[in-house]
Amino acid sequence: MKRIVLGVSAGIAAYKSVLLLRLLREAGHHVDVIPTDNVAQFVGNATFEALSGNPVTSNVFDAVDTVNHVRLGQEADLVLVVPATADLLAKAATGLADDLLTGTLLATQAPVVMAPAMHTEMWQHPATTANVATLRERGVHIIEPAVGRLTGKDSGPGRLPEPEEIFEQIQSYLNDPVLKGKKILITAGGTREPLDPVRFLGNRSSGRQGVALAQAARDAGAIVTLIATHLEVAAPHGVTLIHASSALELREAVFTHAPGQDVLIMNAAVADFRPASIETAKIKKRDEHSAPIIELVRNPDILAEVVAARANDSQLPALIVGFAAETGDAEGSVLDYGRAKLAKKGCEILVVNEVGATKTFGAETNDATILFADGSEAVTAAGSKLQVARTVINQLANAI
Ligand code: CTP
Repeated sequence: MKRIVLGVSAGIAAYKSVLLLRLLREAGHHVDVIPTDNVAQFVGNATFEALSGNPVTSNVFDAVDTVNHVRLGQEADLVLVVPATADLLAKAATGLADDLLTGTLLATQAPVVMAPAMHTEMWQHPATTANVATLRERGVHIIEPAVGRLTGKDSGPGRLPEPEEIFEQIQSYLNDPVLKGKKILITAGGTREPLDPVRFLGNRSSGRQGVALAQAARDAGAIVTLIATHLEVAAPHGVTLIHASSALELREAVFTHAPGQDVLIMNAAVADFRPASIETAKIKKRDEHSAPIIELVRNPDILAEVVAARANDSQLPALIVGFAAETGDAEGSVLDYGRAKLAKKGCEILVVNEVGATKTFGAETNDATILFADGSEAVTAAGSKLQVARTVINQLANAI
């Protein structure tokens, strides 16, 4: 749990700060909301009080006995200003302190994140540009405004990003840096095995879980390299991105980037088979009825190969994590197959998912069990793919 000051300045986008407040509270943080005076024109203090569970005032002369204007800033782990108007940016850049929020900004030693929102003309005015540059120089983290519909009929840069987007961008301040400085290589997505110049054999992996792992590792302070094989979702910012397409390309990328890493997480769904040959021209229908028979050959098991290679190469990651997609059947449960796979692959940790037509592949949520080769008790991880990722990352921090 972190102590957060959520400063709100008076723009139409102030309503979005209410949603951000909810996200912060749901994640278990203590939040003191400090609106500027005119915010009451948009959102009332009662809303902020009810959702934060704490008293709310803009006035330095309220609760004078607790010296609020100094105390809130001193006690905070993080100070946010969402939205930050042009006026607020100007006051903060100048060091004015004529209300509780600007006083708090001067009194705090905590990281400060501001999310500006205003009309494009105001955002691009040289005065605002200079104020933002001053604040950045002093270490304030400015979240770039989004481009889109503004309050009137106009659109352009100046829109406040959605609360979920802001929440994601501040994760590194909210999470303990349990993997600070550790190097992590993560594979994500699903490989495509080419048949001819236009066709491939693929799988249903969207890459969501792998991207969530990269995000969670980055937020925990790790230096992340993400090898992406056909992601359906955007890769997170702040990670080094490498692209690979087929299993053979992925294997080459993994062996190129694995030396020197502390952890390898093999989350990509790697095709076990590939067409024995790749036609250089598109495969055509030869006659009315026949269809080609495609011969497949085995792909290398990349995970097992890295584990085996590590025996003679101390540069390869000491901690290797596999993922297992299992359906279970009459002969064994999902976990039975998971334990057998952990032993067979030889990695330290295996995260086992139950898969099916609607489960895991492409879904927003996941239900996983984390198995440990050293016999430690299994840990379950459930919820959004990001929540599962954070549980996995915390387990790595214990195992590293
Ligand atoms: N994996 C790999 N190379 C392959 C196949 C899988 O590196 N050719 C990795 C995956 O990235 C994952 C783990 O092995 O971390 C398990 O993947 P999974 O598809 O569940 O297992 P398979 O080894 O393919 O076994 P099977 O399909 O027979 O259950």
